[in-house]
Amino acid sequence: MKVLVTGGAGYIGSHLVQEMLAIGNEVVVVDDFSNALSTTRNSPHYAIYETNILDLDALVSVVKRENVDAIFHLAAKKMVNNSLGDGIEFFETNLEGTKNVIQAVKEAGIGYLIFSSTAAVYGPNPIGPNFRESDPISPVNSYGESKAMAEEVILKSVMDLGFNALIFRFFNVAGAKSPSLMEHKAQNLIPTLIRNIKKGEVTEVFGTNLPTRDGSCIRDYIHVLDIVRAHILALDFLDRTKSPDASIIVNLGSGTGSTVFEVIKAMEIASGEKIPFRAAAARNFDPIASVASGELARMLLNFRPEYLLQEIVNSAWRNW
Ligand SMILES: NC(=O)c1ccc[n+]([C@@H]2O[C@H](COP(=O)([O-])OP(=O)(O)OC[C@H]3O[C@@H](n4cnc5c(N)ncnc54)[C@H](O)[C@@H]3O)[C@@H](O)[C@H]2O)c1
Repeated sequence: MKVLVTGGAGYIGSHLVQEMLAIGNEVVVVDDFSNALSTTRNSPHYAIYETNILDLDALVSVVKRENVDAIFHLAAKKMVNNSLGDGIEFFETNLEGTKNVIQAVKEAGIGYLIFSSTAAVYGPNPIGPNFRESDPISPVNSYGESKAMAEEVILKSVMDLGFNALIFRFFNVAGAKSPSLMEHKAQNLIPTLIRNIKKGEVTEVFGTNLPTRDGSCIRDYIHVLDIVRAHILALDFLDRTKSPDASIIVNLGSGTGSTVFEVIKAMEIASGEKIPFRAAAARNFDPIASVASGELARMLLNFRPEYLLQEIVNSAWRNW
């Protein structure tokens, strides 16, 4: 197959591109390089277009020229710390950009769209069972809102336009295949711990008296290579089932929650360093627990994550 990866120069996109090539697909990348892992704009193995998905004409022309079978749409603005304010760039890129991708799908008559959404759409929740895809969503920041709105547009468009879509809601993605595919700027816990160790800084733990097994927040970590494998299974699923004009939302997590202190412990094992921490107040709107139900991914895609927390943390430390 020939696949187009928007955001293919970013952290998850770069892993996906490598794997899609490795299993014999043709790959085209569209990325504006605003948050790319490397500045390389050429590859002997695949076409790279330095294109902003907000530029509809440019995007449509790439998609038509390359005659691709499927689009993995990953390009987005994702730094959540910036999205508590007006968040205009989130709505621009994540919502308007997604509308442009759908328009390109329509104009080029592409059959399959696989979209990267996020667990942030669920918002804060009372601690309880893992999130199921059918649970109500209540995003509290512009990032989550922009992704929830993009999901909505995709769900509505598939009926009108006649393509198949699969929307993945990723939980906390971490780890790397190699040092060149490591993302150093991410604000998530695992990269933050590594930066703090390297700089000799104390790590702040936001919320230490929460109603969890050790008082800290619970999150669901998934290795980036498991995310990539799920994408390959998803494309195969869409191609195999060819259900007319269907779309589906699937959580992508490990199905297991880890507390902040458990991640710190895992990082101490990986690095051999004692990690000093300081208790800080829980952040407003931070979910106490955010864990995926992996049932649908298992049922539909036969997807089970291969990497456990310690392997994810080891991989992040080793490839930093
Ligand atoms: N990393 C995570 O933990 C995580 C969790 C949930 C969801 N996601 C989603 O997965 C996708 C990929 O995430 P990532 O971690 O690889 O992010 P990333 O920032 O590393 O990659 C995104 C890529 O998109 C590009 N991009 C941004 N705006 C663009 C635009 N207007 N036009 C073209 N390219 C543009 C950036 O240059 C970057 O290369 C995103 O949609 C993100 O919201 C990621």
